[in-house]
Amino acid sequence: MSETIRELLSEEEVDQKIKELGEVISRDYEGKQVHLICVLKGGVFFTCELAKRITVPVSLDFMSVSSYGDETKSSGVVKIVKDLDESIENKDVIVVEDIVDSGRTLSYLLENLKSRKPKSLRLCTLLDKPERRVKKVEVDYTGFEIPDEFVVGYGLDYAQKYRNLPYIGIVKLD
Ligand code: IMP
Ligand code: MG
Repeated sequence: MSETIRELLSEEEVDQKIKELGEVISRDYEGKQVHLICVLKGGVFFTCELAKRITVPVSLDFMSVSSYGDETKSSGVVKIVKDLDESIENKDVIVVEDIVDSGRTLSYLLENLKSRKPKSLRLCTLLDKPERRVKKVEVDYTGFEIPDEFVVGYGLDYAQKYRNLPYIGIVKLD
């Protein structure tokens, strides 16, 4: 089976939105240091671009989680594949994700991180598919709300492909 990709959000739209998010976060965290937690692998492109747009001091850490499920659906059972390198105790933390879909991964992850006693904990996602929500997740910073379509690009994959696209596209199976 092959697939085609139809552009949903252009490179310019995504770049502009990340710039705006960076400005808002820089204002919100004025006088503080922000500790970004990138959720691998999908969050990596967004995290790098966002970090470059934040003007307060930034530190970075990475976490990798896998949710047991098929390619297009997560099951809600989440395993930490790579944990953080550093403690987040007493830090102002923002989790940076590519997309919130059912909310299962993030609701697990945020609960887990909360128990590690950060000073504050917020969530920033490039994309949100609110129609698909099964678990309630409070999102503090959202790039775009998108319809219930499977998307790729800017870190998001279909069977590990297309993460490197500089725009967001909808996958159509032929
Ligand atoms: P959730 O637990 O259902 O919210 O799903 C979270 C994860 O599923 C995301 O971090 C993505 O890795 C993946 N995912 C959900 N929707 C899409 C999509 O449209 N394209 C690519 N990956 C997706
Ligand atoms: Mg992800």
